[in-house]
Amino acid sequence: MAQLDDAAAYWPLFQLSVRTPRIELRYPDEAAFMGLTALARKGVHDPASMPFSIAWTDQESPAFEREALKHYWGSRANLSANSWNLPMAVFVDDELAGVQDANAQDFAKLRVAGTGSWLGLEFHGRGIGKEMRAAILHLLFEGLGAVRCVSGAWHDNGPSHGVSRSLGYAENGEDLMLRRGEPDRLIRLLLTRAEWEKRRRDDIEIVGLDGCIDMLIASEDKAAS
Ligand SMILES: CC(C)(COP(=O)(O)OP(=O)(O)OC[C@H]1O[C@@H](n2cnc3c(N)ncnc32)[C@H](O)[C@@H]1OP(=O)(O)O)[C@@H](O)C(=O)NCCC(=O)NCCS
Repeated sequence: MAQLDDAAAYWPLFQLSVRTPRIELRYPDEAAFMGLTALARKGVHDPASMPFSIAWTDQESPAFEREALKHYWGSRANLSANSWNLPMAVFVDDELAGVQDANAQDFAKLRVAGTGSWLGLEFHGRGIGKEMRAAILHLLFEGLGAVRCVSGAWHDNGPSHGVSRSLGYAENGEDLMLRRGEPDRLIRLLLTRAEWEKRRRDDIEIVGLDGCIDMLIASEDKAAS
């Protein structure tokens, strides 16, 4: 039977990882999808408040698990060089802790990427959120040649804003959007390449990116930074 190594020959993203001294981001395989779904079911946030723009954590089982898996499978099946979402699995000491995703449209021309993230509750408040965002920013700016990275968080999401602030993002306006069906303020955040350069780290390693460039950067414009 074909194994994961065979799959990586066709789908090089399976070999992509980003390592920092504290955490590792790995492109998720099927076991990681299952593990992330189980971890998210155990709790990602205080149910009293909704940190996401899509309230996926409000669903009951088994719809919760099925929709989570559809989301992950979809991210793999729908990936193209012009439109991608990479839900990188976060490992702390080889233990699955959450997701740090990166997404982009027309990245070859725009060089703009967005990010989103969550951690299982037991991993909150230990600096892991900051570390995994630093890791994905390294992949996007250093590995792929991004010129700006964007994010968004509800006005009252203290930890998410704390991560963004500490990594050099600036507020970039806000949108009025539905949050659990009611209008609320989602703050837009922007990190320019210049601000990232001021804080760039030399202890983050990107592994396995070369074979993935064609999958993430379309056409002739493949030169990374
Ligand atoms: C957002 C999330 C990934 C952050 O990860 P984390 O590991 O808890 O955060 P960290 O410990 O790395 O750091 C958080 C930063 O915010 C600060 N912070 C934490 N709680 C805060 C609060 N209530 N108000 C203001 N700042 C706060 C911390 O001091 C730290 O900043 P510092 O390093 O400058 O001191 C995590 O809390 C999470 O998964 N939350 C639920 C899902 C979520 O909100 N996802 C993001 C949606 S936009």
